[in-house]
Amino acid sequence: MIRFDNVTKTYLRGQSPAVENLDIEFARGEFVFLVGASGSGKSTLMRMVLKEVAPTRGSVHVAGKDLARIPSWRVPALRRDIGMVFQDFRLLPSKTAYQNIEFALAVIGTPRKVVRRLVPEMLEMVGLEDKGRRLPHELSGGEQQRVAIARAYVNRPSILLADEPTGNLDPATAEGILDLLAEINERGTTVVMATHDRAAVNRMRRRVVEMVGGVVVRDEEGGGYESAVEDSVISGHAEDGESVTAAGTADPADPTRPSDPTPAPDGAESADRAGRDHVDEVRASEDVLEEDLIDEREAQHLDADDAAFAEDEEDHR
Ligand SMILES: Nc1ncnc2c1ncn2[C@@H]1O[C@H](COP(=O)(O)OP(=O)(O)OP(=O)(O)O)[C@@H](O)[C@H]1O
Ligand SMILES: [Mg+2]
Repeated sequence: MIRFDNVTKTYLRGQSPAVENLDIEFARGEFVFLVGASGSGKSTLMRMVLKEVAPTRGSVHVAGKDLARIPSWRVPALRRDIGMVFQDFRLLPSKTAYQNIEFALAVIGTPRKVVRRLVPEMLEMVGLEDKGRRLPHELSGGEQQRVAIARAYVNRPSILLADEPTGNLDPATAEGILDLLAEINERGTTVVMATHDRAAVNRMRRRVVEMVGGVVVRDEEGGGYESAVEDSVISGHAEDGESVTAAGTADPADPTRPSDPTPAPDGAESADRAGRDHVDEVRASEDVLEEDLIDEREAQHLDADDAAFAEDEEDHR
């Protein structure tokens, strides 16, 4: 679904790379947490999936397509198939909850009849069926994030990118948001979530990819926020019990980049291998999808008889 082949991104010449030699694949239907200190490259990775940022070296494939080869006029179609959720919600402030969701459909020319069906369905899915008329400032942070998720999901994207979606929320509200993302993932959307939310990662036990200074140091199925991996800045493990700062990598208290990111140790490598085996299996079935997935999705969400929605409706009854 998403593949990085030896990707390096350097924003400014002379600066150390934000992402370096990234080789990773996220399979269709996966739920992946991206963790790592501030500045470790999580947002940069996501922005490359959206083609907002172009790699300096290497290639990024989304749904079988090399993003470097997608012409600019096709970029909106790519982004339509990728939902995006942010820490600061980014709702249109003068539009109601209903209108914010409606807007995502209107910009792609969805027939009004379909809009009238989909928006209430989305509001119900995120538990805001009675708050569609509220403006963003009349909603709590958690409610605003629910609207943002509804807006990101209403087009049934095959990928949902969430950049610290619970960063501004209290723990209980954050749990609700996580459950919503998990539900979306269960319905088949690949979810990639960058987070500093330890409780979320530990509760969900999904694939965890940890970055240090633009380099992946851990890739673990069913991982926790902390790990035994020595390079883990988050857990702060080091061989002789000293902090990783002393070992020359990043300081968790200091968001500046590490000067010398060391390669992943054995633990991370074997986890990475296991992940790749899994990915190979999935890739065999994904080859079928190497066709134009984006067009396929477009056709799907415009189909008023969308079977998936019919099923969802059943669920809600
Ligand atoms: N537009 C930009 N121009 C120059 N440097 C940038 C730009 N965006 C990010 N960087 C740098 O790239 C590195 C990675 O940043 P990125 O935003 O990807 O980190 P992050 O892991 O998302 O951090 P956080 O957890 O704080 O969101 C940082 O050193 C940052 O300063
Ligand atoms: Mg970020």
